[in-house]
Amino acid sequence: MPRDDLAHDLIPAPRAVEHGERGAVVLDADTALWAAPGTGTSARWIRATLGAALGLHFPPAAARDAPDSVRLLVDDSLGSEAYRLTVAAGRGIEIRGGDAAGVFRGAQTLRQLLGPDAFRRAPVRPGATLSVPAQCVEDAPRFRWRGLLLDVARHFTPKDGVLRHLDLMAAHKLNVLHLHLTDDQGWRLEIKRYPRLTEVGSWRARSRFGHRASPLWEEKPHGGYYTQDDIREIVAYAAERHIAVVPEIDVPGHSQAAIAAYPELGNTDVVDTGALTVWDDWGISPHVLAPTDRTLRFYEGVFEEVLGLFPADAAEFSEFVHVGGDECPKEQWRRSPTAQARRAELGLADEDALQAWFIGHFGRWLAARGRRLIGWDEILEGGLADGAAVSSWRGYAGGIAAARAGHDVVMCPHQHVYLDHRQAPGPDEPVPISRVRTLEDVYRFEPVPPELDREQARRVLGTQANVWTEVMEDAGRVDYQVFPRLAAFAEVAWSALPASGERDFAGFERRMAAHYRRLDALGVAYRPPDGPRPWQRRPGVPGRPAEGPPPPG
Ligand code: ACM
Repeated sequence: MPRDDLAHDLIPAPRAVEHGERGAVVLDADTALWAAPGTGTSARWIRATLGAALGLHFPPAAARDAPDSVRLLVDDSLGSEAYRLTVAAGRGIEIRGGDAAGVFRGAQTLRQLLGPDAFRRAPVRPGATLSVPAQCVEDAPRFRWRGLLLDVARHFTPKDGVLRHLDLMAAHKLNVLHLHLTDDQGWRLEIKRYPRLTEVGSWRARSRFGHRASPLWEEKPHGGYYTQDDIREIVAYAAERHIAVVPEIDVPGHSQAAIAAYPELGNTDVVDTGALTVWDDWGISPHVLAPTDRTLRFYEGVFEEVLGLFPADAAEFSEFVHVGGDECPKEQWRRSPTAQARRAELGLADEDALQAWFIGHFGRWLAARGRRLIGWDEILEGGLADGAAVSSWRGYAGGIAAARAGHDVVMCPHQHVYLDHRQAPGPDEPVPISRVRTLEDVYRFEPVPPELDREQARRVLGTQANVWTEVMEDAGRVDYQVFPRLAAFAEVAWSALPASGERDFAGFERRMAAHYRRLDALGVAYRPPDGPRPWQRRPGVPGRPAEGPPPPG
């Protein structure tokens, strides 16, 4: 069959598309669905999501070979998440996946083949002919971990918004939602045994509007949190889409909201932690957890509830629990007699070793419960327990060191995939921060650094785009920062790197013409290629743009 890899507009690009026989399959009210055992998530999704968009019911097929039906089946000769989608006139549409997740990824491709209206929630052209040209798509992911971090601590995203992000991730074949649930500016997860974490810790009195140097304040309380039932629903909704939700409870830094709720968690011998409130400013708070047994026991209690809410078998990678570990200022530990006594008792040289001890405790605690710790690359300082994994954010260096030491790595260097960074130069970008990171820059990001040999490179589980929300005060601002760059990121994470090592950005841009129409149908407030719409600007709100090439790393 002739191969024609360029004639489609799929994003992320599949491994191969073959256009063989002539003709097409037409979907209409009679199109039936045959779902083999193990394909239930895809059958439910096709009926609920494609059904609503297209006004079709997809009744169950009487037989596997019913003509012009949609057939779903698992074929374990294909790899995990791999699929083959075959459209053959007179025979229908078949999605064969290496596992249930593979069938689901194939169903996402079918949605793109059906055109942009398949991304709506109700039919806008009832009765229009829906036809899919005969073809065969063969596909498999490059990386197993294809993540998105959503910071729901700095600005809260209510449950509905999280479910929407899960739908958007599914449409881009992403499979790990890293939820940054706690920080200095807010605690977003109900913990039954510690109600003050949300009573006190889930809201702040006001917020700075703009980056740290902005003189503007939004003088209204900001808050919100997920109840435990909200989390169960988020995890289940994600699992239906073969997406893992990895919770992050940040310790021992980024903890001012927790200390405001329970002052005994802080360094009470050097600060009056009883006077602390949830932080209303951006940056890194000096108020960090005290390295005491009381703090360890408290957080074991938190993590016990976390393990119950985020079961290890929900999806691939659900065994991971993120413990943060980044940006922990050590000044209070240096001044605290209690912290110093603990350091001396443990025979540790310095405060960095004390942090390693703190993280190591939870690494062992999680491992004893069949779970795996993941943390920001600072957790490498002072040594890391076997089985722990690293989110490499300060550049590639942490990931390289971790991979060489035999740890799994998720590559998310801020120079490449921090989507809070501005995406164009010029004064029109809303609250511009850091360096310009364009759609093309993200598209050209390579998660595996050349310093790693083949064996070490296998430690790179994948990659993740991180969305920190200090300057994103609502869902529209998040959409603007995330899209269209998440489409480029999805291709980095899913699609094979061409043999040349260079991705074809011109080809991607051509395919984006179709993808913008899909995003429009989904109601995504992306950044248009020629700049923000008037209401997407934030005139007069200071950011902190940086100029010049990024620092190495
Ligand atoms: C981070 O950006 N502090 C992980």
